[in-house]
Amino acid sequence: MTTATSPHAFWLAGRAATGEETRDITSPWDGRTVATISVPTPDQTERAVAAAAAVAGEFAATPAHVRAAALDHLAARIGERAEEIAQLITDENGKPLKWARAEVGRCRSVFRWAADEARRFNGAEGQRLDSDPGGAGRLALTRRIPYGPVLGIAPFNFPLNLCAHKVAPALAVGAPIILKPAPATPLSALLLGGLLAETDLPEGSWSVLPVPNEAMPSLVGDERLPVVSFTGSAPVGYSILDSVPRKRVTLELGGNGAAVVLADWSSDADLDRAAQRLAAFSNYQAGQSCISVQRVIVDDSVHDRLLPRLIAAVEAQVTGDPSDPATDVGPLVSEEAAERVESWVKEAIESGATLLTGGSRDGAQYAPTVLTDVSPDTRLAREEVFGPVMTVTRVFGEEQAFAAVNDSRYGLQAGVFTHDLATAFRAQRALEVGGVIIGDVPSYRADQMPYGGVKQSGVGREGVRYAMADYTYERVMVLTGLDAL
Ligand code: SIN
Repeated sequence: MTTATSPHAFWLAGRAATGEETRDITSPWDGRTVATISVPTPDQTERAVAAAAAVAGEFAATPAHVRAAALDHLAARIGERAEEIAQLITDENGKPLKWARAEVGRCRSVFRWAADEARRFNGAEGQRLDSDPGGAGRLALTRRIPYGPVLGIAPFNFPLNLCAHKVAPALAVGAPIILKPAPATPLSALLLGGLLAETDLPEGSWSVLPVPNEAMPSLVGDERLPVVSFTGSAPVGYSILDSVPRKRVTLELGGNGAAVVLADWSSDADLDRAAQRLAAFSNYQAGQSCISVQRVIVDDSVHDRLLPRLIAAVEAQVTGDPSDPATDVGPLVSEEAAERVESWVKEAIESGATLLTGGSRDGAQYAPTVLTDVSPDTRLAREEVFGPVMTVTRVFGEEQAFAAVNDSRYGLQAGVFTHDLATAFRAQRALEVGGVIIGDVPSYRADQMPYGGVKQSGVGREGVRYAMADYTYERVMVLTGLDAL
């Protein structure tokens, strides 16, 4: 582990560099200094952007096999160093080791998918144009071209994998990337930089810069970075979009994930499974996922049998030291974050909610919590809690259940526990979200799937192939004078 006397370097145009200032990264669990990092100066940040802009043309022209080999290398090295990386995530983020291991596995899969997609991407698509007399002898060939360098801004909650979701698609299409990790959790991103440095990707094609948030407006506004891909909170995301309306901006923002349990999900085994999944995914990484279970919406006919199971499953979550492999729920990212959750729960109780379990805080640790009778005007009902808290609401029938899901300004993913295929298709049509998960919680995500929201959950899609499309545009070439079409 790096010590305060030798700060972690960052990565400027593919090379290790140090700046003039340092910052300590502390564990949310016990407050110890995990590492000290070096912070880029404005001049170093400028050099990284200039290098990205300078290499953009050359990088876009790199053969697919070169980019694919680099991405394969990353997947392989992440696999080899999986345990060490998982431990690093736990140290800097407080995420329980079991979930950190899962994140590392997913990250490996992101790079593997990106390598595959890089090999497939951009085969020219042909269109004959002689359907009208003016097009006789003409053929249109369309290819996707990168807009240019990508500024990827990553959040703290998946400090490795949500960086991978910026880096991998950019490299796959041949777009340089400047990656800016979250201030609290830069170490996984810097480690990723170390693996990128083992490849022979061209100089300038990638940088990892833990710049302070205050430096971001000028970086976001820099015209040499035509694509901004941001994952984080809605206020910050929309302020980025408003500040650069002419750029290509993709936003993966929040949600207040709903899970519906319908009348046909009614056997004892069904209800046991729903309770286990809802409890686990309301609390995984202390609820700090945009698709964690926040709102549980239950049909009246199964409500009274599900509720005791749900409370028991939530109370069975093992809380404590995140580095213990048995721990399910660790601390939030900071004490301040846990205090905010505490205040929202308090507000809900003061407005008439009933606390069924949990509701206590110890430093950054917040107890897995279940509430019912939550007033629809409270922040707990309307906003993204980003903490280990679920609300339970009784509804009568599918229509009311779907209306309750849609009664949100967010629309990221929803889960629907049903066995009925026709209901599944109705849910897909009716629910105003980017993803509907049937027979499971909204928190299910496979990294190759399109992932993103509607309403105020964002714009654009991740999921390797979909982000590759977002980072590129179609350029058509028309061939003329072809006698043999
Ligand atoms: C997020 O919190 O938006 C990401 C969720 C995930 O990747 O599982």
